[in-house]
Amino acid sequence: MYWLGLDIGTGGSRALLVDHDGRQIAAVTAPHEDILMEQPLYAEQRPENWWEAAQAAIRGVLAAAGASGAEVQAIGLSGQMHGCVILDAANRVIRPALIWCDQRSQAQVDFIHSKLGRENVVAAIANPVLTGFTLPKLLWVRDHEPDNFDRVRKLLLPKDYVRFKLTGDFATEVSDASGTALLDVLHRRWSKTMLDGLDLDASILPRVCESSEITGTISARAAELTGLAAGTPVVGGGGDQAASAVGNGIVERGIVSCTLGTSGVVFAHMDDVAYDAQGRVHTFCHAVRDKWHVMGVTQGAGLSLQWVRNQLAPGLTYEALTTEAATAEPGSQGLFWLPYLMGERTPHLDPHARGGWIGLTARHSRADLIRAVIEGVSFSQKDCLDIIEELGVPVNSVRLSGGGARSAFWRQILAHIFNKPVASLETQEGSAYGAALLAMVGTGEYSSVPEVCRTVIHERETLAPRPREAALYAEAHRTYRALYPVLRSALAGA
Ligand code: XUL
Repeated sequence: MYWLGLDIGTGGSRALLVDHDGRQIAAVTAPHEDILMEQPLYAEQRPENWWEAAQAAIRGVLAAAGASGAEVQAIGLSGQMHGCVILDAANRVIRPALIWCDQRSQAQVDFIHSKLGRENVVAAIANPVLTGFTLPKLLWVRDHEPDNFDRVRKLLLPKDYVRFKLTGDFATEVSDASGTALLDVLHRRWSKTMLDGLDLDASILPRVCESSEITGTISARAAELTGLAAGTPVVGGGGDQAASAVGNGIVERGIVSCTLGTSGVVFAHMDDVAYDAQGRVHTFCHAVRDKWHVMGVTQGAGLSLQWVRNQLAPGLTYEALTTEAATAEPGSQGLFWLPYLMGERTPHLDPHARGGWIGLTARHSRADLIRAVIEGVSFSQKDCLDIIEELGVPVNSVRLSGGGARSAFWRQILAHIFNKPVASLETQEGSAYGAALLAMVGTGEYSSVPEVCRTVIHERETLAPRPREAALYAEAHRTYRALYPVLRSALAGA
């Protein structure tokens, strides 16, 4: 008996099968077409292509495991968040989806805040509206493509479009819905304040469920196309960050994760909802029933290391890069890296923030430059952690995942800079794995998300901070924090 997790990512769709003990049996990724970037700030994908890739990934994973569709007990979905998929009266996609990294909607964000009042918006949805969220993208279509807007009958998130193709149902779940800017995050239902205040018709929204609830079953047509059995239940699932947190066991108080991919995300579970009035971190519903999460995002985390490798050490592996960095002294002889290569979300909320090395002298070597980059990204993740702790969220230990966590050197630096024990996990799978675990809860295999996580997720290694380095980095972090405000005002006229 198997459970299937399906993640509709940006680069591809990944299908993963687990058995009753949460062991991964097989996983297959089918790539997506390139992101369409017709103009600066634009980022679009074709939802039909996600569905094609999802079918290929499901067929592929069943073949890889030698499993029949009838052996799959349930399916959990996860996906890139914040996308805007619009369907007409015949359930056809009206135009390509504006996806999470599309930044064209600043005018609509400003409109929403001025029409409703920024404080009222934060009270209604626990966050200010950001250009990345779904709602301002829909309003962009209203402002710029009125003919398309007039045809809108349904607004869906990426994974929920695939759900519709799998089951014929219009449904979403609370974690992904939180990133639309239309969900009353506190009460876990669509926000009347936002809908009425912006003259939007509530009937365009799908039903909103909890993440481990069954939302529908595989249709006969989808069964033909995927090899799954008709009637197999599909559970709500989660936005990619919440699903990945389930896969990392971030489902109870005190445990926090730090995931270092292209971007870096610090993610914490919350029993009670709390939000940052400035919106420096996102407060969203968790994929755990009646719980929430808060997350802070460094836009250029792994991206910083990739950039420095490409510019200064092309051809070097990441392992060689970190080995070289380890030859430099902690603190990189007073050299600092600001990782703002793609603007910054936490803590600055500044799409125009600029990065750079500060404090160079002739004594600095390439090893210092690389080490400073690793330290700078870690300081930025510490900024996220600090805000989360300021919200009263306890942080006993931090679980590391993503590409950056493969380096023991980087893991130790994070332990020092966070001044907390950091752990790595036995299973390094992210969102698709978490989605499969949600499916197991949906079919009653486990009674709750925390229960399945406690049973199947195990820590592999824990590193503790050493007091001398922790003190040195605490001092360096104070200097790091002073640099952005100075640079911002210096560059303001540039
Ligand atoms: C979350 C976020 C990303 C996207 C794409 O706020 O922007 O996780 O979901 O992966």
